[in-house]
Amino acid sequence: MCGIVAYLGRKAAQPILIEGLKRLEYRGYDSAGIALLEGGRLAVCKTKGRISELESILNPPNEAQTIGIGHTRWATHGAPNDVNAHPHVDYTGKIALVHNGIIENYATLKTWLSEQGVPFVSDTDTEVVANLIGYFYENGDKRSDKEPENRFEWAVQRALHEVYGTYGLAIMCTDYPEMLIGAKKGSPLILGVGQNEYVLASDASAIVQHTEQAMYLSDNEMVTVYPKSFHTKTTDNVLVSRELGEIEFSLDQIELDGFQHYMLKEICEQPARLEKCFSGRVDVRGGRVVLGGLATYSRQLTQTKRIILTGCGTAWHAALVGEFLVEQLARINAETEYASEFRYRNPVIEEGTVVIAISQSGETADTLAAIEMAKERGATVLGVVNVVGSSIARNTDAGVYLRVGPEIGVASTKAFTAQVGVVTMLAIELARRRHLGSDQASAMLKELLLIPEKIRHILSQSDEIKKVAEANVDRENWLFLGRGVNYPVALEGALKLKEISYIHAEGLPAAEMKHGPIALITKGMPVVFIATQCSQYEKVLGNVEEVRARGGKTIIVATEGDEEIKKHADHLITVPQTIDHLQPMLTVVPLQLMAYHAAVLRGHDVDKPRNLAKSVTVE
Ligand code: M6R
Repeated sequence: MCGIVAYLGRKAAQPILIEGLKRLEYRGYDSAGIALLEGGRLAVCKTKGRISELESILNPPNEAQTIGIGHTRWATHGAPNDVNAHPHVDYTGKIALVHNGIIENYATLKTWLSEQGVPFVSDTDTEVVANLIGYFYENGDKRSDKEPENRFEWAVQRALHEVYGTYGLAIMCTDYPEMLIGAKKGSPLILGVGQNEYVLASDASAIVQHTEQAMYLSDNEMVTVYPKSFHTKTTDNVLVSRELGEIEFSLDQIELDGFQHYMLKEICEQPARLEKCFSGRVDVRGGRVVLGGLATYSRQLTQTKRIILTGCGTAWHAALVGEFLVEQLARINAETEYASEFRYRNPVIEEGTVVIAISQSGETADTLAAIEMAKERGATVLGVVNVVGSSIARNTDAGVYLRVGPEIGVASTKAFTAQVGVVTMLAIELARRRHLGSDQASAMLKELLLIPEKIRHILSQSDEIKKVAEANVDRENWLFLGRGVNYPVALEGALKLKEISYIHAEGLPAAEMKHGPIALITKGMPVVFIATQCSQYEKVLGNVEEVRARGGKTIIVATEGDEEIKKHADHLITVPQTIDHLQPMLTVVPLQLMAYHAAVLRGHDVDKPRNLAKSVTVE
């Protein structure tokens, strides 16, 4: 979604802002802009379109402009155009700000401000915040005779008290040319602290080039930054002391490293990332899994009668795999909920219920809201999160990190396999503690550690998978079918294809096809089956034949060495043998590659698909 970067230091701000905005491009955006402050004057430049378009209309950088704010906008209120792009300047011309999030009461505030004679030029909710700060800045505190110590900071606090909704804000004021203010509620905001220079951003990837020292703001906090110091307060003006932490990844992890796209890089990274995810956690000989982050809750987890897994999109698919494994292996009642639905229900949560929230970014608004709701009802909430220090990581009772490094491609790939890896480890450990023999646990864990090498083998077939994509890429409707633990993989395969190649695809449990979707099958329609050798293999073969009988073209992901399946497949892709429960980490990989190749063949911008944002921080 929207991205924020702001700079205050000794260097020219413009190139730093532009470079930072490029690092944030992956989050998804439709317009971009920057504002610089020099000698009490604001210079704003913004446009619909890509950062390259913004660069083409910028003046050459000026060494005297060492403070500035920048933004990539993903439109919510108001069409993507030049006027609605950020930064927004208030009606007095003194305040400039950029905003991530949604101001829910913007209409009421806009009406009130308009009645006070404040003019508006855009359709955005953000301009309301700029004008509200400007209004309080200009009119001061009518309830007190005393001039606030810092009028700019006071006006920001005063305005934020009127605002309902979510925000990450970076704000400048022409009367305070050496001061930058950031404020956060529900949208991430991080202050990078360098040698007398500061980068305030919504995402650590815009900071890491300048410094690894950073401070993550909490909700209802603001930071006021000066050239050589900063302080943090609540929006109620209470000073907060915060330690600096280290950004957990390095610049080279967010470079393309010779790959054409981040998505392909991240698909190919999966073996190494999974090895890291398992490292130090899997004790094959002892048949145990050690997830240090969950230690305090291990007894509750073992004894719980109910586990609810939640997330959105790909994370929800991983949760669905988790449901299957927790139920099958640990024999605990497990269910999966879309976070966006769960948050608005009034679920029955019994004492001892454990909710597991899964998220790559740790910033997904719906997942965060579901966590809050579950906590209010007394659940213990655990997180399975990739981004260290993210809001979900901080708002859950405990959790497990994925350890896959930054995921830049909008289409989630390595996060999915690691999410599945984590829920698999958890399910095996819970099973061992409840009833599974340690020999059986040991055998499963031994097999788990072979998964990365098996993925390497699948990756070596990328060219053949590309040919399958080539042969079918002109078809506008695809089906993805799987059963059991491979049903979520079918959903994930369909999601990957549609989000980057814009082909319509549906994932279904294979047996459901007969209850309606079979009507869609026409001659040549690609139908992808996950038909690996597993307990439901014969059943899936039956479904394959039903499709063939109606002229559908079968693309089958099967187990290596399966001779029988060849007779049923128009295109065959094989994956190495593994036990049923571990198959999703293998069967998803060819589907990721197929979606990637299809999107490239159709000429799409794989890493920045239309309308999508990497992390959905608004509802
Ligand atoms: O950061 P999260 O894992 O919470 O994100 C959840 C979804 O928005 C995300 O998985 C989305 O579905 C991806 N674009 C899928 O590739």
